[in-house]
Amino acid sequence: MLGLEPPGRRPARSRSTMGTMRYLDLPDTPRISRLGLGTWQFGSREWGYGGEYADSRAAQIVHRALDLGVTTIDTAEAYGMGRSERILGKALVGRRDEAYVATKYLPLLPVQGLVERQGRASRDRLGIDRIDLYQVHQANPVTPDTVLMTGMEALQDAGVIRDVGVSNYDLRRWRVAEAALGRRVLSNQVRYSLVDRQPETDLLPYAQQNDRVIIAYSPLAMGFLSTRYDESNRPSGPVRKANPLFLPDNLRAARPLFATLRDVASRHDAQPAQVALAWLLHQPNVVVIPGASSVEQLERNVEAAELDLTLDEVVELRAAAEAFHPVTGAAAVPEVLRNLRG
Ligand SMILES: NC(=O)c1ccc[n+]([C@@H]2O[C@H](COP(=O)([O-])OP(=O)(O)OC[C@H]3O[C@@H](n4cnc5c(N)ncnc54)[C@H](OP(=O)(O)O)[C@@H]3O)[C@@H](O)[C@H]2O)c1
Repeated sequence: MLGLEPPGRRPARSRSTMGTMRYLDLPDTPRISRLGLGTWQFGSREWGYGGEYADSRAAQIVHRALDLGVTTIDTAEAYGMGRSERILGKALVGRRDEAYVATKYLPLLPVQGLVERQGRASRDRLGIDRIDLYQVHQANPVTPDTVLMTGMEALQDAGVIRDVGVSNYDLRRWRVAEAALGRRVLSNQVRYSLVDRQPETDLLPYAQQNDRVIIAYSPLAMGFLSTRYDESNRPSGPVRKANPLFLPDNLRAARPLFATLRDVASRHDAQPAQVALAWLLHQPNVVVIPGASSVEQLERNVEAAELDLTLDEVVELRAAAEAFHPVTGAAAVPEVLRNLRG
């Protein structure tokens, strides 16, 4: 089994005593843990985790993450309509310096000045002096990057934010954003997991060649890669009912992939979810931000940062993922709608 600090022990804050957590090694960049924490789940109804989670477990997860050397914590103004930012901010009281706080602006209107206003509002909900990474949540076709980046530049110059990032951007728009800002756009947060490997086409090579970062969201494909779900045991919250991966046919088709994940996991005395995260972390310049429904999951995910897969295992997992052909997109819509109604 992989080693962890015993519960309750709070490690000293220097890099040398931070245990085995791994951090990015990039120029002009503070301590960004390669294994982070996603907080969409905090106070968001669509995950269906309920009041106890939002009121107490979420904070416990944040505290344990910090104890274990996690610095990267991701939220967004859109999560729970600001609730996630508030819950995170409260949990960070007294420990703000231990975190690299990332949040996101959702560009809905092409209005000058909105980025600045929303950035300050996020900072205030988080209760911190400065947001470490402020990301544009989605590329909006009617909101040009010149408008967005003018706002980002103003926020940087005023010290409201440190780094600028984007999310769900293709490579062309990432570069357009950088040109508009005239400074680096440090990261692009995109869906990336064993079953969503699109970023490998051009985003990941770009990041690796230019000291940029790919922040992998849904790195466990919303828990699909934990292998704990099957046709007779499916997650209940609406966000996953709307995800075609959790349709019975796709869960059935995933059996060989799940078997490979379990097999590799057993060789390391680890769990399939840890293997799925370690597979992503095998790639340089990738940060993963799994969400967690319990402190225990968070602990298991942190352990994944120190799980080294062999090259053969990386290839074996990729082959198993490539042999999995889920029904997605338009073909899955009727079944997803039935699922949401059922
Ligand atoms: N930029 C964007 O557009 C965007 C989009 C989506 C997400 N995100 C960010 O990315 C973060 C992570 O993505 P995500 O939450 O969609 O998906 P994820 O991290 O792939 O999956 C999270 C879920 O997986 C399960 N899980 C986590 N650790 C586990 C473990 N060790 N063993 C077994 N199950 C485990 C938990 O659900 P159960 O226990 O209930 O199964 C948990 O809620 C979000 O919180 C958010 O910050 C960003």
